[in-house]
Amino acid sequence: MSVAPKHLVRLATLAAVMTVCVLVTRANGASSFVLVHLFYFPIILAAFWYREVGGALGGALAGVATGPLLLADATPSEYAAGAWLARTFFFVAIGLTVGAGRALLWARRRQLEEHMAHLGRTYARTLKSLVYLLEHHDEETANHCDRVAANAIKLGSELGLGAAELEDLYWAAYLHDIGKLATPARMLLKEGPLDAHEYEVMKQHASIGANTLADISPDFETVAAAVRAHHERWDGRGYPDGLAGERIPLFGRVLAVVDAFEAMTSDRPYRAAMSVQAAAQVLEEEAGRQFDPALVTVYLRLIEAGEVHTEAGDGKRTGLELPEAFSLRRKLGTPRVPVLR
Ligand SMILES: [Fe+2]
Repeated sequence: MSVAPKHLVRLATLAAVMTVCVLVTRANGASSFVLVHLFYFPIILAAFWYREVGGALGGALAGVATGPLLLADATPSEYAAGAWLARTFFFVAIGLTVGAGRALLWARRRQLEEHMAHLGRTYARTLKSLVYLLEHHDEETANHCDRVAANAIKLGSELGLGAAELEDLYWAAYLHDIGKLATPARMLLKEGPLDAHEYEVMKQHASIGANTLADISPDFETVAAAVRAHHERWDGRGYPDGLAGERIPLFGRVLAVVDAFEAMTSDRPYRAAMSVQAAAQVLEEEAGRQFDPALVTVYLRLIEAGEVHTEAGDGKRTGLELPEAFSLRRKLGTPRVPVLR
């Protein structure tokens, strides 16, 4: 039976520490001197690595190791033998206690990981339910969100975002219009432009969506901030907060570009879709006014390379799969990058 290298290293370390303890104790007045307490280090180490069994064995070994040392003590041998047994008992008891504590700690940690995984799945199901509601409220908005999510991931990847950031961006993109659940369907489906009052009502969807997400959990803070900012403009004339330039959260700026392009290239009840070229032209013209110019440059490259999903190109859906779980920031787990099929 072969022993894993990790165990060889641990056993060698324990043997080395135990030897050092013996030598130091022997050189400093034997076991009646305070340095005999050094033996607690290898005992605790053994208990930490091999739980109760390691702790008990470590304690017994330390007891045996301090036996010969006791003979060098200046105390009578009858007393020395009793002290040796008592000390060995304490060593074993300490080893067992630390080992049991360690086992309990690890069991609790496993439980916590399971709870976190469960919470992540519950979060994902909650967010998916919102998308499901939106699909029934306004199917076109739901399809639009699917394409915005797919394209936001493309742009985010191109910007070099990591897996955790891409996951947040993905959910933010998917849910950016979730506040439209509170917008009357007659406005969403209206053939013709909205009047001033309707437009004010429609504008509330950014903050309503963000507040809804933030109210579910503080873990959705980044996603909610992006949702809130997706109608901000680079020149500060957007809504709901009128933020300008880099004061707009990056994900909000990303969504603004991707959302606008997706909207322009999709059919609406009151107008036909623009061509990809015409929409790209608008992005270029609005760079530095409506949009972050740096993001427009990157996105135009993706459009030119044919990497961007559009209604005409993909039909209803992009094939983007919703993740099974939302990765928690204060978590013990790996972020899930959404899968494009
Ligand atoms: Fe929106």
